[in-house]
Amino acid sequence: MTSQVSSDGGFGIYIHWPFCAAKCPYCDFNSHVRHQPVDQSRFADAFERELSHFADLTKGKVVQSIFFGGGTPSLMEPATVERILSKVSDLWTVDPEAEISLEANPSSVEADRFKGYRAAGVNRVSLGVQSLIDSDLRLLGRLHDAKTARSAIEIARSTFPRLSFDLIYARPDQTLAGWEVELKQALDLAADHMSLYQLTIEEGTPYFQLFHAGKLKIPEPDLGAAFYELTQDITANAGLPAYEVSNHAKPGAECRHNLVYWRYGDYVGVGPGAHGRLSVGVNRLATSTERHPETWLENVEHNGHGMIESFGLNEEEQGDEFLLMGLRLTEGIDLTRYERFASRSIDPRRLNDLLEHGMVEEIGENRVRATREGFFVLDAVVADLAA
Ligand SMILES: C[S@@+](CC[C@H](N)C(=O)[O-])C[C@H]1O[C@@H](n2cnc3c(N)ncnc32)[C@H](O)[C@@H]1O
Ligand code: SF4
Repeated sequence: MTSQVSSDGGFGIYIHWPFCAAKCPYCDFNSHVRHQPVDQSRFADAFERELSHFADLTKGKVVQSIFFGGGTPSLMEPATVERILSKVSDLWTVDPEAEISLEANPSSVEADRFKGYRAAGVNRVSLGVQSLIDSDLRLLGRLHDAKTARSAIEIARSTFPRLSFDLIYARPDQTLAGWEVELKQALDLAADHMSLYQLTIEEGTPYFQLFHAGKLKIPEPDLGAAFYELTQDITANAGLPAYEVSNHAKPGAECRHNLVYWRYGDYVGVGPGAHGRLSVGVNRLATSTERHPETWLENVEHNGHGMIESFGLNEEEQGDEFLLMGLRLTEGIDLTRYERFASRSIDPRRLNDLLEHGMVEEIGENRVRATREGFFVLDAVVADLAA
C-alpha cells in the first residue's frame, strides 16, 4: 500500500467551464456547444457546492493558484467568476500572491467583461490565438481573425498584470519559413509567456477523419521535429525559452498552475470532466468528475459533488505519473522525490544507459532532466526509467 506522500509540488484549484461558442475541428477537450443560454447562476451554485466537497478533503492547504480552463471560460459572466473566487476564499486560505488565470478566446473578448474578471481577482489571462494568419484561422475553424486576436491581446495586456497566448504550429500545409515569420511576429506581441503546441490529430475529431481519409496533410514526423527545433531556437533567442515541452516564459514568469501539475503537486479539479490529485492521509487520490455538463450539474445538485471516480494510486502509479509529468520540465526531476512517491529508486543501470545515450542529463545533485534528443522520444525515456 502507499506510503505517506505529502506533496511539495504546491496546491492549486482547477475549474472547468465546459462550453464553447463553436467546436473546433481539431479539439478533443470536454467542450460543448449549447444553442440555449446556459443558466450560469445554477452552474455557479453547483461549482460552490462541489468546491465545498473538495475543501473537506483538503483542509488546511494554502491555495497558490486557481485556473479557469475549458472550454471557453471567457463565456462566463464576471459574476459567475466572482462567486467562484469568493467561495474559494471562504473555504481555503488563498496566498495573497496566488496566480488566478482564465482562458479566453479572442472571439469572446470584450473589454467590459475583462474588467469584470480583473475586479473579481483574475490576474492572468491565457488567450487562444492559435495563428496570426486569417486563412489558417479559418482552416482551424476559429471564430476570430488575426486582427481580432491582436486587439484581444491589446485589451488583455492593458487589463491584466500577466498575459499568455497559445499558438498551434505544424499545421496543415504550413512551411518552416512561414512559421518562422509568424512566430517572430507573435514574439513581438508577447508579454512574458507563450504556449506553442504542435498540432496533434486527436481521435474522434473531424480532423482525425479528414487525416485518415487523406484530405488533411500535416508535416511528417521529421518535418514536425524540425518545426519543434526551430521553435525552441527562436523562442530561446528571444528570451522566452521553453520551461516545458510546449510552454515558454521569461525566467520567473512560468505558469504556476501548470507547474503544480508537472511538479506533481496537489490540485482540486471541479466542474464537468475535471481531474484532481490529492494527498489525503496516507493516500494520493486520483479524482475525476462526470463529463457531461448537465448530468454533472444534476449529480452535484443531488449528491453535493459530481465525482465519478476517486481512488488511491499505488506506488508504481505514483512513480510513473511523477516521471511522466516531471520529465516534461526543463528543470527535470528530483530523484529523492521519485523515491518517496514510488518507494524505490530508479534502476541505476537504466539511468546510466540513458545518460550514456544522451537522452537524459544530470543537473546538480540528485536531479536529472531530458536532453533535447530525449524530448523527441520522451514517452520511451519515461517508460525506460519507470521499468
Ligand atoms: C482547452 S483549449 C482552451 C483555450 C480556448 N478555448 C481556445 O481554444 O481559444 C487550450 C489550448 O489547447 C490547444 N489545443 C487544443 N487542441 C489541440 C490540438 N489538437 N493540437 C494542438 N493544440 C491543441 C489550443 O492551443 C488551445 O488554445
Ligand atoms: S474554443 Fe478551445 S476548447 Fe473550445 S472547441 Fe475550440 S479549442 Fe476546444
